[in-house]
Amino acid sequence: MRLRILATGLSGGIGKAFEARAAQHPDWALKALSRHPRADDIPFDVTWPLPRLEESLASQATVDALLCLAGADILSPPLRHAPYLERLDALYAVDLAGTIKTVKAALPHLAEDGIIILMGWDMATLGKGGEAGELYALAKGAVASYGKSLALSLLGRATVYVAAPGWVTTRWGESLSGEARARIAHGTRSGAWQTPDEVASVLEALLQFPRTLSTGQIIYVNRGDVLPS
Ligand SMILES: NC(=O)c1ccc[n+]([C@@H]2O[C@H](COP(=O)([O-])OP(=O)(O)OC[C@H]3O[C@@H](n4cnc5c(N)ncnc54)[C@H](OP(=O)(O)O)[C@@H]3O)[C@@H](O)[C@H]2O)c1
Repeated sequence: MRLRILATGLSGGIGKAFEARAAQHPDWALKALSRHPRADDIPFDVTWPLPRLEESLASQATVDALLCLAGADILSPPLRHAPYLERLDALYAVDLAGTIKTVKAALPHLAEDGIIILMGWDMATLGKGGEAGELYALAKGAVASYGKSLALSLLGRATVYVAAPGWVTTRWGESLSGEARARIAHGTRSGAWQTPDEVASVLEALLQFPRTLSTGQIIYVNRGDVLPS
């Protein structure tokens, strides 16, 4: 299956794992939208105004898929120590407004039966105490709600999924001691961390899932823990 894919966040933990999986498909062409572009990447900081993002994609040919993986890391320094509302601003600018602007800028380049995947969080609508829990729930709950409505707006035009992992061992998770990681895992729904490759495998599968049969779904990636709908 030939797939032309645009993706933000490929330099992150999940993004790198996805890039490795995409490389296993000789007929997939993956293009990075990056704020720190490598040679072949498209310069793309999701906090830029929409016209600048559209300009970055002006010469972009048609693609089959858009992955919006970019997210603000409010758990690692320097944002970890920022005031609550500053961390909220960062999540708003990157995860929420950034995702929406990415979709708006890329949509004119998306094939008629294209697919868009957004990133949520498995605890977003269930609640998680603590400032980080509140903040991620705000941002990722909004992304999930946006994704469901976007799916309806694009019905018959494109498929939309929201991938919602539990905690994944990317930048912040990797920086923790084994003890801290075990304590945090205990407070998750599944009691375990997900690996970036596990999340990437779900993204890979969603891209190959039959189109038009389902859209607007939140796909939880947390080892099959049963969640209320
Ligand atoms: N890790 C988890 O536990 C977890 C759980 C649930 C959901 N998620 C979501 O999954 C997605 C990927 O997570 P991750 O853990 O792989 O994240 P990560 O390792 O922190 O990487 C974040 C990615 O977003 C990019 N990014 C940040 N700000 C950007 C901006 N202004 N413009 C363009 N790109 C920007 C980063 O680029 P730079 O390299 O330039 O900084 C990086 O590629 C995020 O949306 C995250 O919220 C993660």
